Amino acid sequence: MRREAAEVWSLRTRVEHEAARRFARLAAAVEEFDPESPIPPLLRSAAEDERRHAALCREICAAYGGAAPDSGADPRVAPHDLAVRDAVLYEMVAACCITETESVATVTTLLLGSLEPNVEKVLREIARDEIAHGRMGWAHLSREASRRDVGFLSRWIPGMLTGSVDGALFSASEASHEADDLLPHGVFPLARKREVFVATLEEVVFPGLGKFGIDVAPARAWLAERLRASLRRSG
Ligand SMILES: [Fe+2]
Ligand SMILES: [Fe+2]
Repeated sequence: MRREAAEVWSLRTRVEHEAARRFARLAAAVEEFDPESPIPPLLRSAAEDERRHAALCREICAAYGGAAPDSGADPRVAPHDLAVRDAVLYEMVAACCITETESVATVTTLLLGSLEPNVEKVLREIARDEIAHGRMGWAHLSREASRRDVGFLSRWIPGMLTGSVDGALFSASEASHEADDLLPHGVFPLARKREVFVATLEEVVFPGLGKFGIDVAPARAWLAERLRASLRRSG
Protein backbone atom coordinates (compact mmCIF):
# COMPACT_ATOMS: atom_id res chain seq x y z
CA MET A 1 0.00 0.00 0.00
CA ARG A 2 2.86 2.34 0.84
CA ARG A 3 4.41 1.52 -2.52
CA GLU A 4 1.24 2.40 -4.40
CA ALA A 5 0.94 5.70 -2.53
CA ALA A 6 4.61 6.46 -3.23
CA GLU A 7 4.04 5.86 -6.96
CA VAL A 8 1.10 8.24 -7.10
CA TRP A 9 3.04 10.96 -5.25
CA SER A 10 6.06 10.40 -7.47
CA LEU A 11 3.87 10.95 -10.54
CA ARG A 12 2.40 14.10 -8.95
CA THR A 13 5.93 15.41 -8.34
CA ARG A 14 6.80 14.87 -12.00
CA VAL A 15 3.64 16.65 -13.16
CA GLU A 16 4.40 19.63 -10.89
CA HIS A 17 7.96 19.94 -12.25
CA GLU A 18 6.69 19.82 -15.82
CA ALA A 19 4.01 22.43 -15.07
CA ALA A 20 6.70 24.74 -13.61
CA ARG A 21 8.76 24.60 -16.81
CA ARG A 22 5.69 24.87 -19.06
CA PHE A 23 4.42 28.01 -17.30
CA ALA A 24 7.84 29.70 -17.40
CA ARG A 25 8.14 28.94 -21.13
CA LEU A 26 4.57 30.13 -21.86
CA ALA A 27 5.20 33.40 -19.99
CA ALA A 28 8.01 34.27 -22.39
CA ALA A 29 5.98 33.11 -25.41
CA VAL A 30 2.90 35.22 -24.58
CA GLU A 31 5.06 38.32 -24.09
CA GLU A 32 6.42 37.89 -27.63
CA PHE A 33 3.06 38.31 -29.35
CA ASP A 34 1.10 40.21 -26.67
CA PRO A 35 3.43 42.48 -24.66
CA GLU A 36 0.47 44.15 -22.89
CA SER A 37 -0.98 40.90 -21.59
CA PRO A 38 -1.43 40.62 -17.81
CA ILE A 39 -0.94 36.84 -18.06
CA PRO A 40 2.90 36.44 -18.13
CA PRO A 41 3.47 37.67 -14.54
CA LEU A 42 0.73 35.28 -13.40
CA LEU A 43 2.42 32.46 -15.31
CA ARG A 44 5.77 33.21 -13.66
CA SER A 45 4.26 33.22 -10.22
CA ALA A 46 2.41 29.99 -11.07
CA ALA A 47 5.75 28.45 -12.13
CA GLU A 48 7.07 29.27 -8.65
CA ASP A 49 3.98 27.69 -7.06
CA GLU A 50 4.56 24.53 -9.11
CA ARG A 51 8.18 24.29 -7.98
CA ARG A 52 6.96 24.54 -4.38
CA HIS A 53 4.29 21.89 -5.05
CA ALA A 54 6.94 19.61 -6.55
CA ALA A 55 9.01 19.89 -3.37
CA LEU A 56 5.97 19.19 -1.17
CA CYS A 57 4.92 16.18 -3.27
CA ARG A 58 8.47 14.84 -3.24
CA GLU A 59 8.48 14.99 0.58
CA ILE A 60 5.26 12.98 0.78
CA CYS A 61 6.60 10.52 -1.77
CA ALA A 62 9.73 10.09 0.36
CA ALA A 63 7.59 9.60 3.50
CA TYR A 64 6.06 6.57 1.73
CA GLY A 65 9.52 5.29 0.90
CA GLY A 66 9.54 6.39 -2.74
CA ALA A 67 11.77 8.53 -4.92
CA ALA A 68 10.78 11.25 -7.37
CA PRO A 69 13.76 12.34 -9.46
CA ASP A 70 13.16 15.33 -11.77
CA SER A 71 13.73 14.34 -15.39
CA GLY A 72 13.98 17.97 -16.50
CA ALA A 73 11.40 17.28 -19.23
CA ASP A 74 9.24 20.04 -20.72
CA PRO A 75 6.86 18.25 -23.08
CA ARG A 76 5.22 20.46 -25.73
CA VAL A 77 1.73 19.16 -25.99
CA ALA A 78 0.49 21.26 -28.93
CA PRO A 79 0.47 19.75 -32.45
CA HIS A 80 3.64 20.74 -34.33
CA ASP A 81 1.82 22.32 -37.26
CA LEU A 82 0.11 25.02 -35.17
CA ALA A 83 1.41 28.58 -35.42
CA VAL A 84 3.15 29.82 -32.25
CA ARG A 85 0.22 31.87 -30.98
CA ASP A 86 -2.24 29.03 -31.59
CA ALA A 87 0.13 26.55 -29.94
CA VAL A 88 0.33 28.80 -26.86
CA LEU A 89 -3.46 28.98 -26.70
CA TYR A 90 -3.62 25.20 -27.09
CA GLU A 91 -1.22 24.69 -24.17
CA MET A 92 -2.97 27.26 -21.98
CA VAL A 93 -6.33 25.59 -22.53
CA ALA A 94 -4.94 22.06 -22.10
CA ALA A 95 -2.79 22.84 -19.05
CA CYS A 96 -4.99 25.39 -17.25
CA CYS A 97 -8.63 25.25 -18.37
CA ILE A 98 -8.60 21.44 -18.46
CA THR A 99 -5.78 19.99 -16.33
CA GLU A 100 -5.75 22.58 -13.52
CA THR A 101 -9.56 22.63 -13.35
CA GLU A 102 -9.60 18.83 -13.11
CA SER A 103 -6.85 18.92 -10.51
CA VAL A 104 -8.81 21.36 -8.32
CA ALA A 105 -11.86 19.08 -8.50
CA THR A 106 -9.84 15.97 -7.59
CA VAL A 107 -7.99 17.61 -4.72
CA THR A 108 -11.12 19.31 -3.36
CA THR A 109 -12.98 15.99 -3.39
CA LEU A 110 -10.06 14.26 -1.63
CA LEU A 111 -10.12 17.00 1.01
CA LEU A 112 -13.71 16.09 1.89
CA GLY A 113 -12.46 12.80 3.30
CA SER A 114 -10.28 12.17 6.29
CA LEU A 115 -6.62 12.37 5.36
CA GLU A 116 -3.25 11.79 6.94
CA PRO A 117 -2.29 15.18 8.46
CA ASN A 118 0.78 15.74 6.23
CA VAL A 119 -1.20 14.76 3.13
CA GLU A 120 -4.04 17.10 4.07
CA LYS A 121 -1.69 20.03 4.63
CA VAL A 122 -0.07 19.60 1.22
CA LEU A 123 -3.34 19.07 -0.65
CA ARG A 124 -4.82 22.22 0.93
CA GLU A 125 -1.89 24.28 -0.22
CA ILE A 126 -2.02 22.79 -3.72
CA ALA A 127 -5.80 23.29 -4.06
CA ARG A 128 -5.51 26.97 -3.17
CA ASP A 129 -2.90 27.64 -5.87
CA GLU A 130 -4.44 25.45 -8.58
CA ILE A 131 -7.66 27.46 -8.47
CA ALA A 132 -5.63 30.52 -9.51
CA HIS A 133 -3.80 28.51 -12.20
CA GLY A 134 -7.10 27.41 -13.73
CA ARG A 135 -8.35 31.02 -13.80
CA MET A 136 -5.17 32.11 -15.56
CA GLY A 137 -6.04 29.81 -18.49
CA TRP A 138 -9.60 31.08 -18.72
CA ALA A 139 -8.30 34.67 -18.58
CA HIS A 140 -5.89 34.02 -21.47
CA LEU A 141 -8.62 32.28 -23.48
CA SER A 142 -10.98 35.18 -22.85
CA ARG A 143 -8.37 37.74 -23.95
CA GLU A 144 -7.66 35.79 -27.14
CA ALA A 145 -11.38 35.25 -27.84
CA SER A 146 -11.98 39.00 -27.60
CA ARG A 147 -9.44 39.56 -30.38
CA ARG A 148 -9.90 36.65 -32.76
CA ASP A 149 -11.92 33.55 -33.49
CA VAL A 150 -10.82 30.72 -31.18
CA GLY A 151 -13.27 28.21 -32.69
CA PHE A 152 -10.36 26.32 -34.32
CA LEU A 153 -9.70 24.78 -30.89
CA SER A 154 -12.87 22.71 -31.15
CA ARG A 155 -11.25 19.84 -33.04
CA TRP A 156 -8.24 19.81 -30.73
CA ILE A 157 -10.14 19.42 -27.44
CA PRO A 158 -10.42 15.61 -27.67
CA GLY A 159 -6.62 15.40 -28.03
CA MET A 160 -6.19 17.65 -25.00
CA LEU A 161 -8.52 15.41 -23.01
CA THR A 162 -6.60 12.30 -24.06
CA GLY A 163 -3.39 14.00 -22.93
CA SER A 164 -4.90 15.00 -19.59
CA VAL A 165 -6.00 11.54 -18.47
CA ASP A 166 -4.07 8.61 -17.29
CA GLY A 167 -4.76 5.81 -19.79
CA ALA A 168 -6.16 3.65 -16.98
CA LEU A 169 -8.90 6.13 -16.07
CA PHE A 170 -11.52 4.63 -18.37
CA SER A 171 -10.25 1.07 -18.26
CA ALA A 172 -11.23 0.11 -14.72
CA SER A 173 -14.63 -1.50 -14.71
CA GLU A 174 -17.43 -0.29 -12.46
CA ALA A 175 -17.68 -3.83 -11.17
CA SER A 176 -14.16 -3.93 -9.79
CA HIS A 177 -14.63 -2.39 -6.40
CA GLU A 178 -11.28 -1.02 -5.53
CA ALA A 179 -10.84 -0.41 -1.89
CA ASP A 180 -10.81 3.12 -0.53
CA ASP A 181 -7.83 2.12 1.65
CA LEU A 182 -5.55 4.60 -0.03
CA LEU A 183 -7.86 7.61 0.32
CA PRO A 184 -6.24 8.84 3.58
CA HIS A 185 -2.96 8.89 1.64
CA GLY A 186 -4.41 11.11 -1.07
CA VAL A 187 -5.02 8.37 -3.65
CA PHE A 188 -8.40 7.95 -5.36
CA PRO A 189 -9.73 4.62 -6.58
CA LEU A 190 -10.05 4.93 -10.38
CA ALA A 191 -13.85 4.75 -10.44
CA ARG A 192 -14.09 7.74 -8.07
CA LYS A 193 -11.48 9.63 -10.00
CA ARG A 194 -13.41 9.03 -13.21
CA GLU A 195 -16.65 10.27 -11.64
CA VAL A 196 -15.00 13.53 -10.62
CA PHE A 197 -13.32 13.88 -14.02
CA VAL A 198 -16.59 13.46 -15.94
CA ALA A 199 -18.61 15.74 -13.67
CA THR A 200 -15.99 18.49 -13.96
CA LEU A 201 -15.98 18.29 -17.76
CA GLU A 202 -19.75 18.48 -17.91
CA GLU A 203 -20.24 21.14 -15.25
CA VAL A 204 -17.22 23.39 -15.71
CA VAL A 205 -14.98 22.72 -18.70
CA PHE A 206 -17.49 22.17 -21.52
CA PRO A 207 -19.75 25.10 -20.58
CA GLY A 208 -16.66 27.29 -20.11
CA LEU A 209 -15.28 26.49 -23.57
CA GLY A 210 -18.73 26.88 -25.13
CA LYS A 211 -18.93 30.42 -23.78
CA PHE A 212 -16.01 31.40 -26.01
CA GLY A 213 -17.58 29.94 -29.14
CA ILE A 214 -15.67 26.66 -29.04
CA ASP A 215 -17.95 23.87 -30.24
CA VAL A 216 -17.64 21.08 -27.68
CA ALA A 217 -19.49 18.45 -29.74
CA PRO A 218 -16.25 16.59 -30.65
CA ALA A 219 -15.23 16.65 -26.97
CA ARG A 220 -18.64 15.30 -25.91
CA ALA A 221 -18.32 12.53 -28.51
CA TRP A 222 -14.84 11.70 -27.12
CA LEU A 223 -16.28 11.40 -23.61
CA ALA A 224 -19.33 9.38 -24.67
CA GLU A 225 -17.11 6.92 -26.56
CA ARG A 226 -14.86 6.39 -23.53
CA LEU A 227 -17.78 5.91 -21.19
CA ARG A 228 -19.35 3.39 -23.59
CA ALA A 229 -16.08 1.48 -23.86
CA SER A 230 -15.66 1.31 -20.09
CA LEU A 231 -19.26 0.13 -19.69
CA ARG A 232 -18.63 -2.62 -22.27
CA ARG A 233 -15.61 -3.73 -20.28
CA SER A 234 -17.56 -3.93 -17.05
CA GLY A 235 -20.60 -5.55 -18.72
FE1 LIG B 1 0.66 22.27 -8.84
FE1 LIG C 1 -1.01 24.27 -11.03
